Amino acid sequence: MPISERLSLLGSGVFARNDQRKLAYQRKLADQQRWRADAGQASPVPLPPLLDLSLGSTDLQPPAAAIEAIAASLQQPESASYCLHGATLPFREAVAAWAGRRFGVAVDPGTEVLLLVGSQEGTAHLPLAVLNPGDAALLLDPYYPSHLGGLQLASARPVLLPLEAASGWRPDFDRLGAAEWDALKLMVLGFPHNPTATTGEQSWLDEAVQRALRHDIVLAHDNPYVDLALDGEAPALLRNPAWRQCGIEFFSFSKSWCLGGYRLAFAIGAEWLITALRQLKGVVDFNQSLALQAGAIAALEQAPQWPERLRAVYRERRDHMAAALEAQGWPLRRPSMALYLWLQLPEVAQRRGLDSEAFCAALLEGTGVCLTPGNGFGPSGEGWQRLALVHPTAELEAGAARIGAWLRQL
Ligand SMILES: Cc1ncc(COP(=O)(O)O)c(C=O)c1O
Repeated sequence: MPISERLSLLGSGVFARNDQRKLAYQRKLADQQRWRADAGQASPVPLPPLLDLSLGSTDLQPPAAAIEAIAASLQQPESASYCLHGATLPFREAVAAWAGRRFGVAVDPGTEVLLLVGSQEGTAHLPLAVLNPGDAALLLDPYYPSHLGGLQLASARPVLLPLEAASGWRPDFDRLGAAEWDALKLMVLGFPHNPTATTGEQSWLDEAVQRALRHDIVLAHDNPYVDLALDGEAPALLRNPAWRQCGIEFFSFSKSWCLGGYRLAFAIGAEWLITALRQLKGVVDFNQSLALQAGAIAALEQAPQWPERLRAVYRERRDHMAAALEAQGWPLRRPSMALYLWLQLPEVAQRRGLDSEAFCAALLEGTGVCLTPGNGFGPSGEGWQRLALVHPTAELEAGAARIGAWLRQL
């Protein structure tokens, strides 16, 4: 069967590879349980249960007001209908009001807001709307995988800007020469940054805005973690007035309101960028149901304090898990953002010649703990693992103990 060259570029993706590994591990667990039931005795070395810390999919609950609003709207016949852009106006108005409260900026809900099926959908589609095949686009390295995927689908040319631990993951825009800047058509940034779990600084984004204006580049800022900075204030493109000229910013209900499975997000940006993305999306989808939009509106209006509660939980998890891993001999730099730890491979793994993918696979086999290998986030992610704080503290600490025991016998 014919498959496009574009598609073959995509590869399997780090989350899909991990999915396979987790499935295989769960099959082994099930086999072992069957064996124990048949034999009526415990197997010699029972496998530990799976502790999945590989996805930023939270175990925490969304606000009841959002779920109740969805449930109530499900009864309305309009919720079952196609939803064209015009019908999303109440959602866009709620978003514009939120932006006013959050950033003190007046956003036009008619022309500067767009509903998305997740911010991943928006950032992955944007390159198709603004780039021609072969156009150059800058990505941070490490990057969120769909940022690269979106460029590949648009047959664009990624230009990677490596981030380094030594400089606190600050992007060094001077690494690119003038000719490279002139060739760029799009820049995709995101602070707070996944996977390095770094909040970042507004001045980094402001510098990017200056470059975007100078070189006529679209600046896309992926900001699903805007409410999840644990130290410092999350940068936002909307704080720089030039967003109206060259920028588009992506926000999500997945992280701040724990609604990831409902696929709700939005973009705020320059009118011409919103129009372009909207035109592209017109080919692809008919927006989320009005029932889901009702949940999103309820989250914005009735549960503005939700992210603050989440931060308290994640802060506690971060501090306990960091201490637990350190006690097990795996030191780390404490992240300034919620949800993730970004861990350099321990020395013993390096001595054993394990790269991030091999380490992740061996760790799962040996402990039942699943992390995400850093190489899935780009070349600069090699040598690292990402751990998502998506289980209660006691389970995380138990996971750290399993990891420590395994590292000692490596
Ligand atoms: C940087 C980044 N962008 C986008 C997403 C996906 O967000 P959404 O659920 O809104 O598609 C994630 C999820 O982990 C992410 O880390």
